[in-house]
Amino acid sequence: MAVTVAIAGITSKFTRLMLKNLLEQPKVNIWGFCRNPKKLPEHIRSSTCVTIVARDAGSSSALRHFAKRCDVVICCYLGETTLMTEGQKLLVEACDEENAPRYIDSDYCIDFTKLEYGQHPAKDPMKHSLETGKAFAKSRTNLLRFTEDSQCFNSLGSQDDLYNTMQVAFQKVPSNIFAYLALFYQYYCINGQTYLKNDLDNARYLDVKPVTFEKFMQPHKLVELPDTYQNAGADA
Ligand SMILES: NC(=O)c1ccc[n+]([C@@H]2O[C@H](COP(=O)([O-])OP(=O)(O)OC[C@H]3O[C@@H](n4cnc5c(N)ncnc54)[C@H](OP(=O)(O)O)[C@@H]3O)[C@@H](O)[C@H]2O)c1
Repeated sequence: MAVTVAIAGITSKFTRLMLKNLLEQPKVNIWGFCRNPKKLPEHIRSSTCVTIVARDAGSSSALRHFAKRCDVVICCYLGETTLMTEGQKLLVEACDEENAPRYIDSDYCIDFTKLEYGQHPAKDPMKHSLETGKAFAKSRTNLLRFTEDSQCFNSLGSQDDLYNTMQVAFQKVPSNIFAYLALFYQYYCINGQTYLKNDLDNARYLDVKPVTFEKFMQPHKLVELPDTYQNAGADA
């Protein structure tokens, strides 16, 4: 039987990586939600497996139309706090009203449950969303944790230097999340607070093939790294 996957924020870089995999699977239909479908490559827009709802994240009626008859709704929004809190809340409400069997919050990176509110400001909406979502038991997913390995690197400065730099960038314009987001990620990836421990889900999903950090990095050349972030999923 075909599986219908609904992706809010289908134009995101992360989604492009996900679509590359999903469109290789037999019997997968995709519903996408975004403001501007023209950001998607032609082969995805014209695919018979893909249907796009082009509206703003604030439109409850469009969100309900999008979430209808889906097997899973995946949120890939990334933006200002209003989008990540209110926008995700509207989406979760639409999923609940349409009885979507499963909803997956936007995040997919460090284990934000180990952070206190305010430590990594861009993760506060994810913490709120997880708490809000407990009221919508029908359509929630549990947190899943996967890893293959972890690595330590020599830093280009001390951890305290990084902490100070990121706080200065954040205080300057808190609403400009892209000015400090990467710095906060770097900090909480290396300070140990969000490391994954033994409560992993690898064994539950054997088709998710973990790769070591070393294997992941091997195909990339050093000169490509500065553009890697912006080009993520560009070949999907
Ligand atoms: N990039 C990374 O390195 C990275 C790493 C780990 C995890 N992630 C996670 O992956 C997810 C997506 O991140 P990304 O970097 O791929 O995002 P991105 O490329 O910046 O895309 C952001 C998405 O949010 C949508 N969006 C923004 N404002 C919106 C609004 N007001 N209404 C409706 N949609 C709006 C954009 O749609 P429009 O096309 O309409 O603008 C776009 O689809 C996030 O959960 C992020 O935490 C990313």
